[in-house]
Amino acid sequence: MDVLINVFVALHIIGIASLLGGFLTQMKAMGEGRARFNPAMLHGALTMLVTGVALVGLNQADDQTVNNLKIGIKLAVLVVILGLVYVKRDDEKVDKALFGAVGGLTVVNIFIATLWT
Ligand code: HEM
Repeated sequence: MDVLINVFVALHIIGIASLLGGFLTQMKAMGEGRARFNPAMLHGALTMLVTGVALVGLNQADDQTVNNLKIGIKLAVLVVILGLVYVKRDDEKVDKALFGAVGGLTVVNIFIATLWT
C-alpha cells in the first residue's frame, strides 16, 4: 500500500508541476495583460483533483489519519482554481488580476500542504 500511496503522491506532484509550470510560462504575458490559461494548467488542476481524492481514499484504506480540515481547505481552493481555469479556458486573454489569483491560490495550496503538518 505504501508504494501505491507514494506513486499517487508522485502523480500529485506532477499535477502541481503542470499547473504551476503552465502559470509560470505565462508570467511575462500576464505582465502585458495577454496571459491565457493553457491546457497544462487545466490538466494539472484536474490531475490534482483526481490524485488528491485518490490519496484520501488510499490513506483511509491504509488506516492512516487524514487531516480533514487541511484537505477540505485544499479542495475548496482547488475547486476555485479549476472553476476559473475551466470557464476561461478558451479566452484568448485573461485579466491580469484573475490570472495572478490562480497562480497565487496554487502557491497558497502548496504552502498549506507543506507547512500544515
Ligand atoms: C492546487 C492544489 C493542490 C496542491 C498544490 C497540493 C499539494 C500537495 C503536496 C505538495 C503534497 C505533498 C506534501 C504532503 O505530503 O503533505 C500533497 C499531498 C496530499 N494531497 Fe494535495 N495538493 C492540492 C490539492 C489536493 C486536493 C484537492 C486533495 C484532496 C481532495 C489533496 C489531497 C492530498 C493528500 C491526501 C495528500 C497526502 C499527504 C497528506 O495527508 O497531506 N490535495 N498535496
